[in-house]
Amino acid sequence: MLSIDPATTEDATAIWGFLQRFATSYAPSREAFGRNYPRLLEGEDSDILVARRSGIAVGYLLAHRSLTLFAGGPILEIIELYVDEAHRGEGIGRALVQAVLDRAWAAGCVEAVVPTRRAEEFYEALGFQPSATYLKLRLLGGGESD
Ligand SMILES: CC(C)(COP(=O)(O)OP(=O)(O)OC[C@H]1O[C@@H](n2cnc3c(N)ncnc32)[C@H](O)[C@@H]1OP(=O)(O)O)[C@@H](O)C(=O)NCCC(=O)NCCS
Repeated sequence: MLSIDPATTEDATAIWGFLQRFATSYAPSREAFGRNYPRLLEGEDSDILVARRSGIAVGYLLAHRSLTLFAGGPILEIIELYVDEAHRGEGIGRALVQAVLDRAWAAGCVEAVVPTRRAEEFYEALGFQPSATYLKLRLLGGGESD
């Protein structure tokens, strides 16, 4: 049985494991994770959702809601989404995105965006459409860049 719930402090170890496999162009720091994960759990405009099969974590999603002027309301930005390799193709990614969209629309969001083309076909299967590409500037010495 699949469940999708807001993450808790008990999910930190599982999410840290997923993060290391999600972040292909970055080398996540355990120290930074330990500092930032609790802040995200408390953030009013952030969602970290965990997918569980029979109680075992099999994927997670991190997204933020940002109030905009141009879109006429908050937009949802899906920042991280990862499903355990052994459970791909079972509808877990779709269920995580649907759950965060349900929360976003209920919170008044008017749009959802994904700042990457990494899983373009997956998102297109969910109804997302290609839009602008991004520009990025990283703090010097802040790690490897895409
Ligand atoms: C992208 C990812 C989250 C998909 O998770 P998943 O649980 O395997 O996806 P689902 O089983 O829910 O698939 C949903 C739909 O997307 C399609 N899909 C999934 N992965 C796909 C791929 N790589 N290429 C094309 N279509 C894909 C499925 O066929 C399915 O379509 P359908 O329902 O019409 O049959 C997973 O492959 C992953 O964790 N990838 C590595 C991290 C990543 O790229 N994250 C996204 C960037 S934020």
